[in-house]
Amino acid sequence: MQIYSRRIVKMKAGCDSSVLLDGSAGGPSEQTAIPNLTLRKKSFKIIDYLMKRVQAKCGQVVSCSDITAIAARDSVVLTDGPKYDVPLGRKNGLNFATEQATIDNLVAPFANTTTILDRLAAKGLDATDAVALSGAHTIGISHCTSFTERLYPNQDRTMDKTFANNLKRSCPTADSNNTVNMDIRSPNVFDNKYYVDLMNRQGLFTSDQDLYTDRRTRGIVTSFAVNQSLFFEKFVIGMIKMGQLNVLTGGQGEIRNRCDRRNKDKKVDIATVVEELEETFSALF
Ligand code: HEM
Repeated sequence: MQIYSRRIVKMKAGCDSSVLLDGSAGGPSEQTAIPNLTLRKKSFKIIDYLMKRVQAKCGQVVSCSDITAIAARDSVVLTDGPKYDVPLGRKNGLNFATEQATIDNLVAPFANTTTILDRLAAKGLDATDAVALSGAHTIGISHCTSFTERLYPNQDRTMDKTFANNLKRSCPTADSNNTVNMDIRSPNVFDNKYYVDLMNRQGLFTSDQDLYTDRRTRGIVTSFAVNQSLFFEKFVIGMIKMGQLNVLTGGQGEIRNRCDRRNKDKKVDIATVVEELEETFSALF
């Protein structure tokens, strides 16, 4: 969910699919930046496949950013989470983010709540958004290396002992390539059990567990643990806000032909032409 253009890279991180570029945009790919190395390669292929199917039916009018935002929503729906309308009309960025910009714009799993709240506040997201969005860790997997600093050489004292011992069995060394489920209670269901995990000191990352340790966010964690509908409501608000951060629209950016590379020549942008025609017609009638 990190996206940029070289010219504006210092100030901007938005939903423009720059992370999907494979390096053909003229430099090392954003995918090779350390925080992005664990993104599943298959997911890039799936987005490209979806793009091809949409293009076959509709032409080159839907951006990879919109397809990614819809795919994220549908993964939530398919795992029993909330359904919501995704605001559309994003364009794709022309460039990828530098490694430094990627690091600056992503929160690390070893970050504490102060860092999370500060980073998100800079993007207009509040504590409720931070706790609700972190609830996406109710599904999916993590590589051991993303959290083994909590196990080796010393065990993080905020972690439940049995949970830690089980994690050590799954990740026998600090640099193990293995993966584990992020939500031990219901790893394949989008529900509020992630918050129950946190209340039992079974959060995987420091960035997760500290949301329950920190008094500013503890009450929000508890409220979501006891009320799944409230979590769903706040998660949808957070996703819609996050999905609109620094989006490119109108004449900005482009609609890529392939999600993994920039268009060779800046083609006539069909969506913009349609918008301009609509404007012309509404001005006439
Ligand atoms: C505090 C901010 C966040 C941090 C520090 C963080 C960190 C991480 C890390 C380290 C992983 C595991 C990567 C790996 O080792 O394979 C991960 C996975 C994941 N994260 Fe986050 N994340 C954050 C926010 C979010 C948000 C806002 C969402 C979505 C709304 C999200 C959704 C996911 C999902 C679905 C996975 C599982 C991916 C998979 O199964 O391959 N995360 N996150």
